[in-house]
Amino acid sequence: MKFVRSLMKTAALANVPKHIDHFAKFSPSPLSMKQFLDFGTTNACERTSFGFLRQELPVRLSNIMKEINLLPDRLLGTPSVHLVQSWYSQSLMEILDFLDKNPDDHRVLQTFAEVLESIRNRHNDVVPTMAQGVTEYKDAYGQQDAVTDHNIQYFLDRFYTSRISIRMLINQHTLVFDGSTNPAHPFSIGCIDSRCEVTEVVRDAYESAKMLCEQYYMGAPELELREMNANDFKEPIHISYIPSHLYHMLFELFKNAMRATIEEHEASRTLPPIEVMVALGGEDLTVKMSDRGGGVPFRKTERLFSYMYSTAPSPNMGDKHRAPLAGFGYGLPISRLYARYFQGDIHLYSMEGYGTEAVIHLKALSTDSVERLPVFNKTALRHYKLSLEADDWCVPSKEPLDLAIYRAAK
Ligand SMILES: Nc1ncnc2c1ncn2[C@@H]1O[C@H](COP(=O)(O)OP(=O)(O)OP(=O)(O)O)[C@@H](O)[C@H]1O
Ligand SMILES: [Mg+2]
Repeated sequence: MKFVRSLMKTAALANVPKHIDHFAKFSPSPLSMKQFLDFGTTNACERTSFGFLRQELPVRLSNIMKEINLLPDRLLGTPSVHLVQSWYSQSLMEILDFLDKNPDDHRVLQTFAEVLESIRNRHNDVVPTMAQGVTEYKDAYGQQDAVTDHNIQYFLDRFYTSRISIRMLINQHTLVFDGSTNPAHPFSIGCIDSRCEVTEVVRDAYESAKMLCEQYYMGAPELELREMNANDFKEPIHISYIPSHLYHMLFELFKNAMRATIEEHEASRTLPPIEVMVALGGEDLTVKMSDRGGGVPFRKTERLFSYMYSTAPSPNMGDKHRAPLAGFGYGLPISRLYARYFQGDIHLYSMEGYGTEAVIHLKALSTDSVERLPVFNKTALRHYKLSLEADDWCVPSKEPLDLAIYRAAK
């Protein structure tokens, strides 16, 4: 019996490329925060959500699986990337099982929710596993050329965004339809808080980063927090957002700001505070975090957003009890993806010799916060086919130009 089951599984997996080709022909359908909210309240219907997800999840999975296949062969060949691919294939097949199931059958809906949860758990370690694959590849084949680095950065941005979006869909479905309400969070609809108090999240993220920082350095800079609600001066600022996403971004920015501040002021007794300003206008919600941690040279600012770039020593992966304050180089790039996922962004402005301002821009209106999703098409394909071509800007020569050769012969 076991043998027959394993044969059937192998046969099903053999069909995976065919399914990927089919579903990758569709573009993912981005949802707005407003649609997520409406769907979780006024229109809450588990059958409709089931009908949407059994089509949309295969589309999002297949679009990104097409791109995994375009990675350099030697990266594709690493055990870690193989493992990630096998998770994606298995999850795709598990959802496809529901294509011919009856949405009116209560048991079908229940099994579907269970399958979604097990998919979410299976994919828990996708980020470190993929990162491990890139490290294995870099260790085995040495420093890559600029084009390969660009391709990997391009891919990881899209791959991790796709993952954030798939988890968002799964979380909304499982939380909204699990039959329970949370009296502690009356404004929560799934993982979205329709009245997310931004300064509260800032304080939470600060406190957690402070605790971590104190473990490492025996101290942490103070927080100075201000807010400006241009729409209503007396009201604290709140927007419809996913508190865990906002927390993630702020926690990462605080850790960076604290580390820089402490390392810059090692010799002095007092630490300059980290200043955070939150502002709400008609269109934007902006959070600016300013530190006096000495800043970074302008030349390096874009590099800070590349995966694996870190100036911290590599953390000990075996130490499960102590989360590192820095060291993977994933803090900024992943935070920026969270911001961009709902049409926001993160910018870093640094004054070398003084400090850094990190600015999170988010959309204030739930109708403007629309998922930003990668789609596999010819334009995406072209990115992977970029080759080493000559730059279209002159490269200055290292040697001073010998003007003597231009002197007119006498
Ligand atoms: N506020 C800041 N001031 C000075 N340097 C900074 C600041 N923020 C980031 N950096 C630099 O950018 C690098 C990358 O930051 P990033 O958060 O992506 O990774 P990390 O902090 O090294 O590791 P982790 O993934 O654990 O966050 C840091 O190693 C640091 O050199
Ligand atoms: Mg960091």
